[in-house]
Amino acid sequence: MPAMTTLDDRAVPTEAVTPLIRGVAVLRQLTEAGGTLSASGLERATGLARSTVDRIAATLARMGYVRLDGRDVVLAPPVMALGNAYLAALGLPALLSAHADALADALDESVSLAVGDRDGIRFIHQATRRRAMSLSFRIGDLLPAERTAPGPLFATEWTDAQWRSWRERRAADPEDRGFVAVPPREHLSSDADFERRAARARKDGWALDDQLIEPGLVAVSVPVRDPRAGGGGIACVANVVSHTSRHTAADLRDTLLPRLRAAVAEMERELREAPDARPAAAPAGLAVWTGASKQELGREFVESLARGLTVLTAFGEGRAELTLTDVARATGLARATARRALITYEHLGLVRQSGNRGFALTPSVLSLGYPPLSRTSLAQIATPHLAELADRVHESASLAVLTPSGEEIQYTARAATSRVMSVNITVGTRLPAYATSLGRVLLADLPPAERKLDDLAPLTPRTTTDPATLLGALEDARTRGYALVDEELEAGLRSVAVPVRDRTGRVVAAVNVAMHAARRSVEECVRDVLPELMETAGRVEADLRVAGRFARVAMA
Ligand code: PHB
Repeated sequence: MPAMTTLDDRAVPTEAVTPLIRGVAVLRQLTEAGGTLSASGLERATGLARSTVDRIAATLARMGYVRLDGRDVVLAPPVMALGNAYLAALGLPALLSAHADALADALDESVSLAVGDRDGIRFIHQATRRRAMSLSFRIGDLLPAERTAPGPLFATEWTDAQWRSWRERRAADPEDRGFVAVPPREHLSSDADFERRAARARKDGWALDDQLIEPGLVAVSVPVRDPRAGGGGIACVANVVSHTSRHTAADLRDTLLPRLRAAVAEMERELREAPDARPAAAPAGLAVWTGASKQELGREFVESLARGLTVLTAFGEGRAELTLTDVARATGLARATARRALITYEHLGLVRQSGNRGFALTPSVLSLGYPPLSRTSLAQIATPHLAELADRVHESASLAVLTPSGEEIQYTARAATSRVMSVNITVGTRLPAYATSLGRVLLADLPPAERKLDDLAPLTPRTTTDPATLLGALEDARTRGYALVDEELEAGLRSVAVPVRDRTGRVVAAVNVAMHAARRSVEECVRDVLPELMETAGRVEADLRVAGRFARVAMA
């Protein structure tokens, strides 16, 4: 099927896979729109026919990459697997993030890491300490090189062709409309200006951004050189970002640049000493599920899109450079299919040739869904799953965390169907931990010394207040993996809760279903509701694992 579409001026290779080009366009438009677009909005943004948009959305939904919410198509955490493949293959966030975070703590200023992406810079890590008053960027955001501090440093490595395409882009888009993360350019700076900054950066080994993005925002940057690459090219650039209310640009250079340089020296030592990334077990047959989905969904499932997208997830830690054979093996796709997907991605700027017969992902893979999801919260992750659960069991479902004192739980997300409690529970409501199923699950994971189980007041005739009995209940909750509380908080109210664990296995929250005691017996609750609840917790945990791999997920 020869491709007829032209996305831009470059000719589309005849072997490119049209549905893959269209699927990528949908993901990019959703990302630029902040994560959500209606189907008709997507139609306008991509220029595709409505029936095509619907089939692409159905396919992406099947993959878990989007949710269909009424008329809206919404990016969902599993799509971060694409950007994670790039970040894992790159290896820098795993080695350098902790250094960046420590510097941000020490300076009490934001610190970020960026890589060069054609004539722009793209963030691969953000340790944000930004107060009000200035924009803050997200992992995956793309900025025009000339309006940043890292830009001139990357430009020291640009080829003539890169300089040429930079000039062409500036002429074609004088207001930076193509960069959705930055406000439009107001002061037209000359090309020569940036050429001078790049020449300075080469001499100094650092660069400044004195309010090039917006008034008040200042940054200082130092390149992190990669000793592994032999030549000592720039692996990424480390930035300290502040506001003129705290530091002028000159002040950043005088006071914070030395500390940034010291941190960069540590980062370079880390890169030097890091053992070669050892691939986890190579994935195999990533794409085998697509045939079954095709059988089930028929015309609505665009199999070539689903297959093509799995090609990106064949890359990862210790798998930065793959041959066609590697990709075919990891995905289970025929070589010809894998090859056409790679050709398509190369055309789209998402894959580049690397080394001898290898391919590698480019930073642009982060433009497929990453920025809007990279600053999510557990509550946001859980909400659609709670709504589905509430729909299935016809009862209210909630997510809660333990308050810092450890004495109360606080609701952070909720899907209500009925109101069975005399108190109206909303997000933010606090209740005593010891008398709730959510609290028991959370207390069960605390070290015994941190549990406060003395002087507990009975809330109903059935409330457990005896510390020894309560300890037994917590031990039960821990070994069984759930807590059931029967009319101990309020007469007539029964609830069952299970823990939500993060990537490290730590319990970070709990989910529950609450119901009127007359609706189901305790046995029915365990038999019918608990499995659904566990399934929901499993989905929340799976999303949290993907979202939390390189980005920070807020827990409350
Ligand atoms: C940022 O990390 O937000 C940042 C970095 C460099 C800049 C501006 C902002 O020049």
